[in-house]
Amino acid sequence: LAATEAQKRGWHLYVVGGAVRDLLLTETQDILLVQDIDLVVDGFHNSVEVGAGVELALIIQKMFPNARLSVHGEFQTAALLWHKDPELGSLWIDIATSRTEFYPYPAANPEVEASSIRQDLYRRDFTINALAVRLTPPREGELLDFFGGMIDLRSRQIRVLHANSFIEDPTRIYRAVRFAVRLNFELEPQTEDYIRYAIDSGIYERLRLENHPTPALTTRLKAELKYILDSHYWQPALKLLAHLDALHCLHSEIVLDESSWWQIRCISRWLQYLDPYNQLEHWLIRLEILIAQLNEEERTKIAHNLNLPKESIERLKLITKIESEVKDKLLNCDRLSHIFRVLHPYKFSNLILVGVRSPKKIRRLIWQYLTKWSKIQAPLTGDDLKAMGYKPGPKYKQVLDQLLTKTLDGDIKTREEAEVFVK
Ligand code: CTP
Repeated sequence: LAATEAQKRGWHLYVVGGAVRDLLLTETQDILLVQDIDLVVDGFHNSVEVGAGVELALIIQKMFPNARLSVHGEFQTAALLWHKDPELGSLWIDIATSRTEFYPYPAANPEVEASSIRQDLYRRDFTINALAVRLTPPREGELLDFFGGMIDLRSRQIRVLHANSFIEDPTRIYRAVRFAVRLNFELEPQTEDYIRYAIDSGIYERLRLENHPTPALTTRLKAELKYILDSHYWQPALKLLAHLDALHCLHSEIVLDESSWWQIRCISRWLQYLDPYNQLEHWLIRLEILIAQLNEEERTKIAHNLNLPKESIERLKLITKIESEVKDKLLNCDRLSHIFRVLHPYKFSNLILVGVRSPKKIRRLIWQYLTKWSKIQAPLTGDDLKAMGYKPGPKYKQVLDQLLTKTLDGDIKTREEAEVFVK
């Protein structure tokens, strides 16, 4: 339908990028399995008016009023979003006007001008993402492969299109790693050299969140970090990022040494057990454990610059304080009720971070608290006290606290014992 409308106006329409790559890789050839489709509208020899992509999106939206339309005027692109059936998920279609991005200075936002499909594909990150299929006649269905994308798909290589790719857009280093690990591809050796060159050349100074990062770049970097740390392949991806020294773009002192590698895997196991429904955003806590290597001032700076959520910034700020508050107290506890009282004031998520970073003895106590002790309750509630004929008042809290203490320490085991104690 989009192709028919484009053809009517003398435009050429292509499906490009990830959808083509994934269809060629899966061999199912079923475009409906793809939930994120990138289309490019092209007018030969610049005959297309600026914004054809947006115009086409508007036409389609008129036909499908249930699609949500958003327009990014600056880049002449529009997005249509359908909430499909709950089982199939949603469908997202980006429609761009064929363009060349030229970079007035490295790592800046691309400026856009109309140009042919070849140039549009040339500005893309990797050969396997620079394939297109023509949707409009003549030769609809034809695969356009100007840069050897098919050969790289077959030989499973991540290869950039030109030497400056990573300098122009350093977040592509994260994308290279993501695709390599996710698709089980290799970084083509020259491409790996370009990555190292980009990092050595200091391009990451722009990205480094300890300096003054460009907001658009940090947003993209954060999106890539989330993508990677949220995926099931985050472990090999993180290893590869570290191997390429790419974690330095977060901060020059962030490393994946034995201790941080251990901590990040440990916290993932804890989270899996303690928060099976992912209410705590595990990717974020994995990121926090990396950032937590830094001193408090640097941590907070990075968290702010990455625009992390408020609770995340708070966690990073609080952990040193909590660590120093609980450490000595916990080691001096000789009753379960004491341990409970030491840990009770803190949020679970804060204790998870503190626990994983602590020495074995303290870590074990915090784990036991999180998994078992924090769930222990007194055998009686306020309502029970009321039913027993006691008048509600401040005394309730005192009695219930005492009951809890006795229960934690094993002095009260049953409801009957609790009732006797209260009487
Ligand atoms: N792209 C790029 N450089 C970037 C980001 C994106 O060249 N920094 C191009 C790639 O051609 C990519 C397309 O924009 O194929 C769409 O980007 P995106 O949706 O992020 O990636 P997909 O390839 O669709 O991958 P995924 O399946 O992970 O969404």
